[in-house]
Amino acid sequence: MLAVAVVAGSVLVLPYLLFDVDASRISSRNEVHRVLLLVHIFTAMAALVLGPLQFVPAIRARRRAHRVIGRAYLFAGVLPSALAGIPVAALSVNGPVTQIGLLIPGIAWLVTGGLALRAARRRDFAAHEAWMMRNYALTFLAVTSRVVAPLLVLAQLPIIDSVYGGSADAAIEATIPIGQWLGWIINLIIAEILIRRKASRAAPRSTPTPPRLSRRTPRPLGGAVR
Ligand code: HEM
Repeated sequence: MLAVAVVAGSVLVLPYLLFDVDASRISSRNEVHRVLLLVHIFTAMAALVLGPLQFVPAIRARRRAHRVIGRAYLFAGVLPSALAGIPVAALSVNGPVTQIGLLIPGIAWLVTGGLALRAARRRDFAAHEAWMMRNYALTFLAVTSRVVAPLLVLAQLPIIDSVYGGSADAAIEATIPIGQWLGWIINLIIAEILIRRKASRAAPRSTPTPPRLSRRTPRPLGGAVR
């Protein structure tokens, strides 16, 4: 997962490294929007790469390292990236499906991060891990949505003439917002499955209690009750 995060994050961030307006894959409404987008992108990159380290058992075993990386993930990654990403979503020039589809995970990013931190402070480590898994599922939307959208475009090739007048650009433009929604929905479903599977494995197996003998219970032949 770390390798996927580093490669995908680098591909995503590369066009913005030179602060060249023309290299941006999306247009901004004004200078403030552009600066917020850049803050969002660079801090999101930190979250994307730091997140998987927290699931490496060797790092988790070293509590100090886990705590330092966790704080960097939340306070240098998720928090600034979400605070910048929420207005960026509201200002998006790509229409209401993108705006709402990214506002919801942006807010959920802050909420799940806060709940994860609160659970850690209460030393409820099972809840902390579950909230962190949900939080990273939201972070990883950047990767999943960019995998899902091209797949959806490919799936629509047979209908590209009838629905999009043969325009691949129109198909891509219409499909990207759907990919943005699916990116976080798919990730949250996977996270929820993993969390439940982990919880059911951790739950102690209930040992069947032997039935209590009541007066009415017929004694086995021979009279001995084992
Ligand atoms: C909950 C997580 C995230 C939310 C809510 C979010 C939100 C947004 C929003 C609203 C936009 C502008 C989209 C538009 O106007 O069309 C955007 C763009 C962008 N985001 Fe995020 N984002 C998240 C995670 C990430 C992560 C982890 C990265 C990794 C580096 C990332 C990298 C980018 C990039 C590079 C863009 C510019 C568009 C592009 O070049 O494809 N985002 N994001």
